[in-house]
Amino acid sequence: MATTRVPLISGNWKMNHNHFEAIQTVQKLGYLLKDTLKEAGVIEVTVHPPFTDLRSVQTTLESDNIAIGLGAQNCHPEPKGAFTGEVAAGMLAKLNVSYVIVGHSERRELFGETDEFVNAKVKAVLAAGMTPILCVGETLAEREAGETADKVSGQVAAGLAGISDDKAATVVVAYEPIWAIGTGKVATSEEAQTVCGDHVRATIADRFSIGIAQAVRIQYGGSVKADNIADLLAQPDIDGALVGGASLNADDFAALVQAAVGS
Ligand code: PGA
Repeated sequence: MATTRVPLISGNWKMNHNHFEAIQTVQKLGYLLKDTLKEAGVIEVTVHPPFTDLRSVQTTLESDNIAIGLGAQNCHPEPKGAFTGEVAAGMLAKLNVSYVIVGHSERRELFGETDEFVNAKVKAVLAAGMTPILCVGETLAEREAGETADKVSGQVAAGLAGISDDKAATVVVAYEPIWAIGTGKVATSEEAQTVCGDHVRATIADRFSIGIAQAVRIQYGGSVKADNIADLLAQPDIDGALVGGASLNADDFAALVQAAVGS
């Protein structure tokens, strides 16, 4: 079933790398991954630098012909206006950004983003012709209280509310248990599969259709590294990974991508 979904490995750099460091990192990644990325339809790789790096990374990827997609980490739902410090989805699209992370747990927890606000961003990203990576996931307290299913399916349903069927099929959902982010504590492949299959994909099937649910790519995120990516991707409902720490260094991230394609 997972066979028709091309795995998507996304590097979320968070607030790391200035534009000089960003250029160096993508140039090295391009060099290390040139054979791996040559074959179309095997794997898709994106990097999500800070806003200040996007133009530099865009021109580097384009001028050096590096087959890595450009992503952003956030955007504002409004197309323009008096929102000091914010960046609109349309501005990102103009930089050839193709994926935008939406509702990362750090934004939800540290910046108070609600499901409704996240949903508005999902719609803005789609309206600008890009693909949202909608992040969902439970805290440790919620997991221990047996609330994982409700939290995750609630976030998926709310995040995708009001999206048309054809757009819904193009969305990426990243399941990131908050207790596994940056902690070195990865969910077991079975735990991750249960949530991705029984809660994320099942919720999409319930809200839209089985066909749409089968088309959506679901990433796992939280302490993904070169040595655990293969096990995660072997799960039927895990179609990629959202990678933080292990995406910052080109050698580490290239090794992870290579482990993902089994080469
Ligand atoms: P991590 O971060 O890989 O450093 O755990 C993942 C994320 O927050 O997307």
